[in-house]
Amino acid sequence: MKNSKCCVVVVFLVLFCLCVSATDPGSLQDFCVAAKNPNNAVFVNGLFCKDPKLAVAEDFYLADFNKPGVIKSPVGSNVTQANVAQIPGLNTLGISMARIDYAPMGLNPPHTHPRATEILVVLEGTLHVGFVTSNPENKLFTKVLYKGDVFVFPVGLIHFQANVGKTPAVAIAALSSQNPGVITIANAVFGSKAPINDDVLAKAFQVDKKVVDYLQSQFWMEN
Ligand SMILES: *[C@@H]1O[C@H](CO)[C@@H](O)[C@H](O)[C@H]1NC(C)=O
Repeated sequence: MKNSKCCVVVVFLVLFCLCVSATDPGSLQDFCVAAKNPNNAVFVNGLFCKDPKLAVAEDFYLADFNKPGVIKSPVGSNVTQANVAQIPGLNTLGISMARIDYAPMGLNPPHTHPRATEILVVLEGTLHVGFVTSNPENKLFTKVLYKGDVFVFPVGLIHFQANVGKTPAVAIAALSSQNPGVITIANAVFGSKAPINDDVLAKAFQVDKKVVDYLQSQFWMEN
């Protein structure tokens, strides 16, 4: 009796493990269209790997992360990335970083990371931060962060940081993907190439088409 119970538990555990490992791996980029001819293939899900014998310390290295990004965007922030594009050794490791510099009153505008949760630490300045949960609650979680404070933005949720101080601010974010992806909401909706039909956006945002046309005529930046 005792043995058969044990067997049931073992069978259950084996099935559970099989199920867990039988799911698709998480995406490492926006999409990965199957190529009919492997000669023309560029990506696997992620990037091709170097022969490990040829790997060098530089593959895992990035310099100058202490240097503030140059803030050119009208919203007053700059993001310096440290993901698999800058550090090839991050491929398949599921982690990356970003440095965010904020001008006084600068904003890292509402955006989402489709593939990563973010944990952010304030190094300098005072940031008003927040994220909004999905439908139907759409609840705003918000806080004012000071130097040394840490805040989490759960995967996929719209979030922002605003420097509410009179001095520059800087934060470091760690993200749970080698390539978290960024969708800047205003940029994606009003600055898409080609533009989304203005009837669609006028109806979606419940505004006059002129408002949409005005927004679409603006110069949208990634941040
Ligand atoms: C952010 O700063 C870097 C320099 O650190 C610069 O190369 C980049 O163009 C800036 N990005 C934007 C969007 O202004």
